[in-house]
Amino acid sequence: MLSRTSNSLLYCEREKVLPCGKDKLKNQYLQVRGVYNAIQPTPAFRPEIQTAPQRLSNKGLFMSRLYNFGAGPAALPEAVLKKAQAELLNWHDTGMSILEIGHRTPEFMQQVAEKTEQDLRALLHIPENYRVLFLAGGGQSQFGMVPLNLLSLNKHLGADYIDTGVWSRKAITEAQRYGKINIAASSAASHYTDIPSPSAWTCNNDAAYLHYTSNETIGGLAFPFIPETEVPLVADMTSSLLSEPLDVSRFGLIYAGAQKNISAAGLTIVIIRDDLLGHALPFTPTLWNYQTHDKAKSLFNTPPVFAWYLAGLVFDWIKEQGGLEEIKKINSKKAELIYHIIDESEGFYKNPIQVPTRSKMNIPFFLPSPELEKTFVSEAFQHNLANLRGHKLSGGIRASLYNAVTLEATQALANFMKTFAKKYA
Ligand SMILES: Cc1ncc(COP(=O)(O)O)c(C=O)c1O
Repeated sequence: MLSRTSNSLLYCEREKVLPCGKDKLKNQYLQVRGVYNAIQPTPAFRPEIQTAPQRLSNKGLFMSRLYNFGAGPAALPEAVLKKAQAELLNWHDTGMSILEIGHRTPEFMQQVAEKTEQDLRALLHIPENYRVLFLAGGGQSQFGMVPLNLLSLNKHLGADYIDTGVWSRKAITEAQRYGKINIAASSAASHYTDIPSPSAWTCNNDAAYLHYTSNETIGGLAFPFIPETEVPLVADMTSSLLSEPLDVSRFGLIYAGAQKNISAAGLTIVIIRDDLLGHALPFTPTLWNYQTHDKAKSLFNTPPVFAWYLAGLVFDWIKEQGGLEEIKKINSKKAELIYHIIDESEGFYKNPIQVPTRSKMNIPFFLPSPELEKTFVSEAFQHNLANLRGHKLSGGIRASLYNAVTLEATQALANFMKTFAKKYA
């Protein structure tokens, strides 16, 4: 067995190589990459720490997948990846890959576009007066698209925003290019560790809309409630949509980049109440107008076909798990496991967020020193626990526990954290 010692080794292990004898093959590709010397028989392997199974394929390749705690693009369910792999060359007997099929063919329109929308509607119980758009552009495209399409609902182009961290601030900065943005509440006073009580918010009764970020992916600060408001409520749910059931009828508009709980990067889902269509500012580019996409059933221009298709497979997978109620139960268990280790570590691990507003999707935490954090990341990697380094803005460690991160993976991380704290505290 070989220990994983670096990212370059990981890269190496994923390289395609020619079929030949196992040892010869192993030596060949390790030498080519110049990492031969870095490979040691696993001195760091400790049986008490649960790791992902390490397997050799019949061609000598290391086949094990890592436990991926990355914030996005993030882990996808293995069953989904396998399904996509199995039908890649000949999708649904069309004789072509899904990547090669026209987006206006009956096959794509019925088996991907229509089915995916129906499945999402069923999962989230989306009311009939809401439209679902499958767009390109990523989460941040909505930071501009929302104000361009909705600001005209207030005659002074005024909208309210709640500032809870990096992503909401980015949304605010972009919206300020188009209108008068009132920051109705900010977590700045608590250093972004808490959400101010709604009774202290300074909202405008006639704002075009109220915008908030349900889960701050970098800071790990999440809304434990849906804000009450008379104006259309707009939510960036990039890192929380489909992690639990949701009452869509409370919202005017919900958007989410797909690369966390939904699909591959490149797709953005917008759920919009139908009375909010048709209000775009006159200079709104055609492609930035929700109405354009609504009229064309999200096929006005070439959509991100693969990510859209993959979203459909993820929706099937969520149904197989028992729907969003079940997904929520598992996500809660996973988050409890990690927060428990943090809280029981006598200050070795620190998560600064106030308990009721702790995120279940992204758990940032800090160790006594940046050096120890580096050691944590590298030792974790040797135990197949990958992508734990915190965001560059915040430092520290971040464990993202999206739907596809299994309870088993989370337990492996919890075990590792416990052992690591014992060793270094
Ligand atoms: C909450 C939130 N909003 C927006 C974005 C931006 O998404 P994108 O990179 O797709 O533009 C992210 C990305 O991680 C996010 O976490």
